[in-house]
Amino acid sequence: MKKPSKWQRLFCQKTTTVGQLARYKGVNISIKRDDLNHKIIQGNKLRKLKYNIEYALKNNYTSIATFGGAWSNHVIATAAAAHLCHLSSIGFIRGHELKDNPHKWSQTLAQAQQYGMQLIFLSRLEYKKKYQAQSVKNHIAKLPSAPYLIPEGGSNQLAIKGVADIIVELNQQVNEPTHILTACGTGGTLAGLIDGVAKASWQTTVIGIPVLKGGEYLQQEIETLSTYHHKVKWQLYCAYHAGGYAKTSKVVLDFAKKFSHDTQIPLDRVYTSKSFYAAYDLIDRGEITPGSHLIILHTGGLQGGVTA
Ligand SMILES: Cc1ncc(COP(=O)(O)O)c(C=O)c1O
Repeated sequence: MKKPSKWQRLFCQKTTTVGQLARYKGVNISIKRDDLNHKIIQGNKLRKLKYNIEYALKNNYTSIATFGGAWSNHVIATAAAAHLCHLSSIGFIRGHELKDNPHKWSQTLAQAQQYGMQLIFLSRLEYKKKYQAQSVKNHIAKLPSAPYLIPEGGSNQLAIKGVADIIVELNQQVNEPTHILTACGTGGTLAGLIDGVAKASWQTTVIGIPVLKGGEYLQQEIETLSTYHHKVKWQLYCAYHAGGYAKTSKVVLDFAKKFSHDTQIPLDRVYTSKSFYAAYDLIDRGEITPGSHLIILHTGGLQGGVTA
């Protein structure tokens, strides 16, 4: 039998654990510890990349290209995954001003480059058009062969399939919960959980916490990404952005510090500090009622060791 590749070996290991937290106001809370699945290709990133990398390898692509901002967890995860699989990688990055100023690069970009990712910087205007931007097309045309393109945040149908596997795992680990909650950026992770819940025939309510301001627009995105959105109870709570993407507030930071101190579970500043804060606040507000079993998906985001 053929030896599994380094990539396949990441998935031969057992599933991520489910930790039990102290009961809060009559609600049982569990955490699906996807933050422990890999040091760099962490949390929902490993889930989203699983079938995408598999597809690229199976179809003999030699390179992968993707899109993201300077702090994108998806960009660093893609760079690391490509490196592991001996694929070359290209990151189209928002922010033309960074092009000749590597001293202004985030740790994410510096690390992505160390993994061999070629970084191409786009103006904000070009980045808005991303997939259609002329400079992206020109760059791709110059490559020896077309790269496998993964969208911003990694959210495509193969990513949704990878995230839906979380529910397959949970089905072996716990009884059907009443609620499952995740942080949202592009909405791909929420869409995957919705599809997983539908396939498991669970009655679970799937809750999304957008970390960006104006997250209401994700409703439409998720309806596009998820095949089964009409079969599952799901809801976005859009008031937990704490000022917007990569911004935060004292109340969220204080919560995250206390939570991490009490549980020894680290939370990141951009995503999980907000989603975990929201989970407890929704219980406080009676949106999640006593007797419920809530599973919070820890989506990672701790690649750079940046805790809240
Ligand atoms: C740590 C973390 N949590 C949650 C998300 C949100 O995932 P999605 O873009 O699928 O909504 C992301 C990424 O975008 C992330 O890096």
